[in-house]
Amino acid sequence: MSVLVVLGTQWGDEGKGKVVHYLAEQADYIVRYQGGNNAGHTLIYQGVPFVLHLIPSGILFPDKRCLITNGVVIDPKAFKSEIDILSNKNISTCGRVFISEQAHIILPYHRIIDSVFESCNIKIGTTKKGIGPAYADKVNRLGIRVVDYLEKYVFEELLENNLEAKYPILHDQNINISELKREIMNEYNELADFIRPFVVDTRLLLEKAISRNEKILFESAQGTLLDLDFGTYPFVTSSNPTVGGICCGAGVEPSKIQNILGVVKAYTTRVGEGPFITELFDNVGNFLRDKGQEYGATTGRPRRCGWFDSVIVRHSVKVNGINHLILTKLDCMSGLDTMKICVAYKYKGNVYNEFPASRTIQKYATPIYEEVKGFEGQIKGITNFNKLPINAQKYVKRLEQLVGVKIDLISLGRKRSEVIEVTENVKWF
Ligand code: IMP
Repeated sequence: MSVLVVLGTQWGDEGKGKVVHYLAEQADYIVRYQGGNNAGHTLIYQGVPFVLHLIPSGILFPDKRCLITNGVVIDPKAFKSEIDILSNKNISTCGRVFISEQAHIILPYHRIIDSVFESCNIKIGTTKKGIGPAYADKVNRLGIRVVDYLEKYVFEELLENNLEAKYPILHDQNINISELKREIMNEYNELADFIRPFVVDTRLLLEKAISRNEKILFESAQGTLLDLDFGTYPFVTSSNPTVGGICCGAGVEPSKIQNILGVVKAYTTRVGEGPFITELFDNVGNFLRDKGQEYGATTGRPRRCGWFDSVIVRHSVKVNGINHLILTKLDCMSGLDTMKICVAYKYKGNVYNEFPASRTIQKYATPIYEEVKGFEGQIKGITNFNKLPINAQKYVKRLEQLVGVKIDLISLGRKRSEVIEVTENVKWF
């Protein structure tokens, strides 16, 4: 039994793509189980970076199979464009990429509704990819699954129902519903033929792979604080990037999940709206954004930057049962005189060691900081923990103490080789 999960412990963008790419070599299957093309991971192929949103990072290894399971919402257009990008790079996808027949699809009206909601409801700062509206349809029992989409007449009927249900909002946007339906039928029926060869029962495929003891790597998108249940609601995504998402998002039994690896950035970032207690609005925030190249891979938006918040990472450790941590982007902190670590929050005279659910406390609490000495110099290329500047070592040790899990690996750059194996010979699978 060999199932490993890689997930984000903050608000996404922790560097999961690089970590998955590092570990994928040891896996047989790399699986996306939630979210959609709102995610984005930068990969380096033959020295050139490129971004994938939907297809798992493991695709760069020719012998790996990549799965997109039922918990994901799939935009057929975005899927095709990624397959085309990979084909243009001569990266084979045939017989290696599989999508679930039970995944729900994103259609153009989901993107329209996403934008409309952003302008008239609480602004979440979504990626406007239609993710929330597609999941809302799923919950409202209006959704169109891949299997429905592939049956032309079923698709047409469901599309008609959906457009009728959304009439008020689309009409309000001056959209001609019959024209929209015609356009979707023309374009998306062609896309359905493109998608057909990739469609399988991914749950069954995984069940068989697990019974053969093959190695499965689940790649989460976004991060724990963007989880619909355990994140900073309502400023969250519409799925469960936490470990529990795997059971319903892929149909895998909880008892099969062995290793849960949390990826954690050495500082904190967030894109979109919502609380961020350790956010920095000064030169240090700008320093981290510049050094860390903190701009969204999907939307290009500058990311908000702040100090490391041990309260949220402890929360993630507990919600997910994390038993390994990988620290990323420590190199981007080099050059700071001092560094701060948030150990707890304070609100109206009370101290909070656990992450509070109240949106008022999340918004108005202030961080309680511990200040530590910074470090200098280029640390990229270092592969031995003891060769790091002593203050960088102390920082890592303090983070471990505060979150209660050992940091087994430190990533110091985009390249696969730029890592420190703090713990030797970790058995990931
Ligand atoms: P949505 O997932 O597009 O609905 O956006 C909801 C929230 O999740 C917004 O704050 C987005 O910025 C955030 N979000 C979605 N995907 C990602 C991601 O891959 N990284 C970081 N934030 C994300």
